[in-house]
Amino acid sequence: MTKPRVLSTRPLFPAARKILDEHFDVEYWMKPERISRAELLERVAGKDALICLLTEKVDEELLANALKLRIVATVSVGYDNIDVAACTHRKVVATHTPGVLDDTTADFAWTLLMAVARRLLEGDAWMRSGTWPGWDLDQLVGGDVWGKTLGIVGFGRIGRGVARRAQGFQMRVLYNDAVRAPTEIEDQLHAEFADRDRIFRESDFISLHVPLLPDTRHLISKKNLERMKRTAFLINTSRGPVVDEAALADALENKTIAGAALDVYEHEPKVHPALVARKDVILAPHIASASVDTRTKMAVMAANNVVAFFEGRCPPNAFNAAALGLE
Ligand code: DGY
Repeated sequence: MTKPRVLSTRPLFPAARKILDEHFDVEYWMKPERISRAELLERVAGKDALICLLTEKVDEELLANALKLRIVATVSVGYDNIDVAACTHRKVVATHTPGVLDDTTADFAWTLLMAVARRLLEGDAWMRSGTWPGWDLDQLVGGDVWGKTLGIVGFGRIGRGVARRAQGFQMRVLYNDAVRAPTEIEDQLHAEFADRDRIFRESDFISLHVPLLPDTRHLISKKNLERMKRTAFLINTSRGPVVDEAALADALENKTIAGAALDVYEHEPKVHPALVARKDVILAPHIASASVDTRTKMAVMAANNVVAFFEGRCPPNAFNAAALGLE
């Protein structure tokens, strides 16, 4: 019997390859550079499954070019790279990788928060420059973290993980989400539901954990930045377009807020040039989930979703399962 044909736009990790190679005839994109759109369209034609990254757009054009395609598995929790309606319309199952990256991402949000508040990268650059003259009282004085107010926008698994970690710093936690969390979760995490306006006005740190949706695009706008405290810091590990980068650069220039730490960008891989030039911004290359263990788990999860589908089961992480009547 011929095996289903799979295209993977990355070599993935050995643990995921082992699973895939046992079940499928897999073509891996092995070149160090990212697969181009033209190569993707050419190679996906005739495949039964696609394993892709968040950098590859799965849209009507791609689907129309791959009429045998039955399942698309993105190795990411966010799936704004996938046109869900188009997949559903063409009866293509679409899966993602929720759950396995929550703690690693929450850890990294905290890494950014601490680093920007305490000006770690400025200090590192100073030491490496060989110009540090020795200790002085007012050098690189930053903002305290402990005891401050943390505003979490988006209170899903990752946002809650960030709240959990805040307890160790005796912080007051405010959160906002489209759906209010159950009281036992609020009590457990000492988190108080607040509207977005209150979050902007009262927080010393705002950490973003929302998916990219029409309602969250440019959530961090000029208007909302102006509501924030002058001493506040913004942390973004969600999706770049949630922040209006030009407005953020202006806000920093005008000292409307104290600093920002970003892992994601409006037009990846580009960063607004005015942000690159600033010392009060930390720029990380979209690595919040980048631990070996977590990235391996994500790849394995994507592989297992594809296996489940071809074994006749509903893939555990299919986000259009209900629309396809698979649940
Ligand atoms: C995701 O999974 O959506 C992240 O952005 C990368 O881990």
